[in-house]
Amino acid sequence: MSVTDKQLIETAKRARERAYGQYSNYKVGAALVDEHDRIHIGCNVENETYPIGSCAEDGAIAAMVVSGGRRIATIAVVGGYDEIGTCAPCGGCRQRIAEFADDATRILMIDESGDWTEHTIASLLPSSFRLPR
Ligand code: THU
Repeated sequence: MSVTDKQLIETAKRARERAYGQYSNYKVGAALVDEHDRIHIGCNVENETYPIGSCAEDGAIAAMVVSGGRRIATIAVVGGYDEIGTCAPCGGCRQRIAEFADDATRILMIDESGDWTEHTIASLLPSSFRLPR
């Protein structure tokens, strides 16, 4: 059975509850569906050495890769201090998503009303870096 957008958003919200974001107090959750219809989740994991903290998308992508997934079909990201709000993937995570995305990959961002909007990697990261083949 394929995962609905609503289910994926709810899964990202649950992942966010596990965020280790005690330095910024900003908690992020990500949930993605891979090419095998499997869900992988991640949350931000901060560190007392601030720059080495990691993003929620990073965790979800690592979980996908280690279990054999190589393509993001859909990824949902949610963030917020106390209330959940829009969390646009950071620049680094856009590049991480791009590595495993194609034109059909859908990136879901929750909006202020609790609904969500759908984006493509081309719209979020135009002219992204690619090694010459
Ligand atoms: N963060 C993410 O997890 N994903 C993003 O795309 C943006 C930012 C995290 C990193 C840090 O732990 C906190 O949000 C505040 O920047």
